[in-house]
Amino acid sequence: MFPTTRLRRLRRSDALRSLVRETTITPHDLILPIFVEEGIDSSVLIAEMPGVSRIPEAQLAREIEAIARDGVRAVMLFGISHHKDGTGSDTLDADGLLARMTRTAKSTVPELVVMTDNCFCEYTDHGHCGVIGYAGGEAQVLNDPTLKNLARQVVIAADAGADVIAPSGMMDGQIGVIRSALDGAGHASVPIMAYSTKFASAFYGPFRAASGCDLQGDRKTYQMDPMNGREAVRESLEDEAEGADMLMVKPGLAYLDVLASIRARTLMPLAVYQVSGEYAMIKFAAQAGALDEQRVVRETLGAFKRAGADLILSYFARDVLREGF
Ligand code: PBG
Repeated sequence: MFPTTRLRRLRRSDALRSLVRETTITPHDLILPIFVEEGIDSSVLIAEMPGVSRIPEAQLAREIEAIARDGVRAVMLFGISHHKDGTGSDTLDADGLLARMTRTAKSTVPELVVMTDNCFCEYTDHGHCGVIGYAGGEAQVLNDPTLKNLARQVVIAADAGADVIAPSGMMDGQIGVIRSALDGAGHASVPIMAYSTKFASAFYGPFRAASGCDLQGDRKTYQMDPMNGREAVRESLEDEAEGADMLMVKPGLAYLDVLASIRARTLMPLAVYQVSGEYAMIKFAAQAGALDEQRVVRETLGAFKRAGADLILSYFARDVLREGF
């Protein structure tokens, strides 16, 4: 008899297929990143990310209610600052944008998980993720002075009510410094989701426009070289050793191998970030009629889960929740 193996037997009906489905996406897996801008009256469409807008700070409460109504259970907040300077000092102010938007989001829907992207690039005039200074006669993003500021920034975010601190600056030692700063300020129970393996990726292109970041130069001296897989594992394991509670790989689709290798080496919850460029590629292709957006989005989210992700940050999260699975 030939063929002896008939894998098609279990594909005969929708009900059979769903019985043997290995991977599913649930509302519990998804985190929606949102952009909040101070000093504007109406929301601003982001041309590079069709369907995504900058939310005016004054309308944040209303928007958070609507987002929660659509079934979103967790958000990642990004601020668009009108008060930039060399160090991103607005984030160190208990009345700065980071603190204000966190307080607003948390007080509007207390059961929503509010995560803060803890970095400086949206608040610095040079667009880098830390303090710039001279070392060895060369201007560079200084690691240890940035850590000192980060230690203050995360306490500001936690004081404002952040449920999860998510540092994305890729400074060495940041998780250890953040953990002790939080513990020292009475926030021992606030978890850290480390952007532990973050690549210097061209897939962040639309985000830079979305967040109004005028980056001078690039981030290759602190974010990872996209060509490195072993180092990618080291970065995440280092953050685990320093006290992270969750790890992350970013971007997503081009780094599924990295996600799978980290999954094989840690027992921690592992997140993946489907970044702005991944969103834009799908949106623009769908708008051109080249592909079916819903199906492609589910396929990509499914790929993340299959490769080992527990949590997914995605600009599609709200649409997926609204439309059902
Ligand atoms: C801040 C930060 C960035 C993103 C998330 N946090 C930009 C960057 O590192 O350049 C990118 C998110 C996206 O592209 O969707 N450090």
